[in-house]
Amino acid sequence: MPSFELMAALDELAPGARKSIFVDDLPALLLRIENDYFAIEDVCTHDGQPLTDGPVIDRQIVCPRHGARFDLADGRPTKMPATSPIRVFAVDVRGDGVYVSPKAPGTVPSTPKFVATPAPAVPEATADVPQTPVDESGEPAAEVTDEALIEALRTVIDPELMINIVDLGLVYNINQNGRKVAIEMTLTSPACPAGPQIIQQSRTALERVNGIDEATIKLVMTPPWSPERMTDEARDQLGIF
Ligand code: FES
Repeated sequence: MPSFELMAALDELAPGARKSIFVDDLPALLLRIENDYFAIEDVCTHDGQPLTDGPVIDRQIVCPRHGARFDLADGRPTKMPATSPIRVFAVDVRGDGVYVSPKAPGTVPSTPKFVATPAPAVPEATADVPQTPVDESGEPAAEVTDEALIEALRTVIDPELMINIVDLGLVYNINQNGRKVAIEMTLTSPACPAGPQIIQQSRTALERVNGIDEATIKLVMTPPWSPERMTDEARDQLGIF
């Protein structure tokens, strides 16, 4: 494989989207988080399961199988049961697309035949600076942990399967910004009659978390849900082995 290979057109991936690719014949994932792209090996180092549909939390991908997490930028494991890093690949965004190299980020020299994307303008000193979130008293808001948000979502039960939406694998992405949180989630089927109820309960559960004022739920159907996304606990409850 040449140093960099075109993997996606620049407008192919919306923020939050991902694409399965192959890098040096290895299954890999190309992900766009906001305006940053990451390419990672699509195999969890804990037990060899695909990370394909794992939700992304704070730029870490969660293995849908047993919940290990890996940093998208450097591949290091950030949560048990995984203890070994996944491979990550260098990504270069150029004029016509998103290119991936089999080499690690930071180890590949740029290829002169491509024109580099102009660097974004440096904001003026007077430009808006992100503000530290504050609570009602004006004090810096206490940080809400991902675990607290996930635990809140675990209280939302799919009324048809009687399993919580986290263990069902319906939650794809959690993004927290101060006292606001936005999640991307799916349903077990596009025609799920319980959809509006699940969405409303998810929003309510998140807004009840101390430190969260506003929750936004975005329903996505890509990638589609499949039973492989369920945790072992959910499989046990449903008698799926
Ligand atoms: S296979 Fe990924 S955490 Fe077990």
